[in-house]
Amino acid sequence: MKERIEDILSQVRDFQADSKEALENFRITYLSKKGVIPALFADFKNVTPELRKEMGMRLNELKNTVQEKVEEQLQKFENQHSNDAGFDMSMPANEMKGARHPLSIVRRDINEIFAHLGFTIAEGPEIEDDYHVFSALNFPPDHPARDMQDTFFITKSPDVLLRTHTSSIQVRAMEKTQPPIRIIAPGRVFRNEAISARAHCIFHQIEGLYIDENVSFADLKQTLYHFVQEFFGEGTKVRFRPSYFPFTEVSAEMDISCNICGGKGCNICKHTGWVEILGCGMCDPNILISSGIDPEKYTGFAFGMGVERIAMLKYGINDLRLFFENDLRFLEQFELA
Ligand code: DAH
Repeated sequence: MKERIEDILSQVRDFQADSKEALENFRITYLSKKGVIPALFADFKNVTPELRKEMGMRLNELKNTVQEKVEEQLQKFENQHSNDAGFDMSMPANEMKGARHPLSIVRRDINEIFAHLGFTIAEGPEIEDDYHVFSALNFPPDHPARDMQDTFFITKSPDVLLRTHTSSIQVRAMEKTQPPIRIIAPGRVFRNEAISARAHCIFHQIEGLYIDENVSFADLKQTLYHFVQEFFGEGTKVRFRPSYFPFTEVSAEMDISCNICGGKGCNICKHTGWVEILGCGMCDPNILISSGIDPEKYTGFAFGMGVERIAMLKYGINDLRLFFENDLRFLEQFELA
């Protein structure tokens, strides 16, 4: 009997069920009323008194081993919907990992503010032609921005290039629809610039365009003032400085009171208390004409801002390269997704 118990014990220890049915068969074979274990207990009567104690212990050990084996194998099947990596892909996550990229946060917040004012989002291609990036926007043929030094050309003729600004989306919007047009156009732009803390060859802009009857410079000022209060906080001051862009007349650049030092003067605002955040102006009648819009009937304003610049001011970031390096120590500091 001793050998029989040893044999069975080693079989039980080696047993691996490959299905639930196999496990159930195993359980029936050993533990059911007519199974191996009850049969051994029945034989126990015939064991000589000297061996009883030892055999009793061995029999109990065998019974426990079988029971443990059944339990252990059962667990295996209960976790069966878990995959090879050892976790259940269908389980809901307890905790979301990851954060939104700061540029995505800023783009989303800017879009939302303008969406509340009735602006809709417009998009355009990153690979453009000279007409939509320059000619239709009133850039003279010899304008320096058209130079290879600034613009990435893919081919010179036909002219295929990477857009240098999102103003090209203005042109595409005007081609497609008659006023009223009220769009906000975020996008990636490309310029042939050396990468430094302040410049990159790829960055993001958001363009705005509003064309309707009786749109005035006062509307432009009020719209941008509202944006600044919403985005940078109540009480942020704005000022407009005269400027020049080929596609606007009049043109201006807008500064806000430095939100890092509150206007007292710091490194970010170069101790002036003001930082420039965007270019803007009234649409030049020439660009309306070239897109088939009657400048006698309609007027409009446009503005364009750099998303990286706005994000740097919002979060007090002093190196533009951080946005593109995907360093988790940087990215994890922003709003969780
Ligand atoms: N496109 C200009 C740039 O890249 C920014 C800009 C200035 C856009 C004035 C505008 C505008 O729509 O009115 O520097």
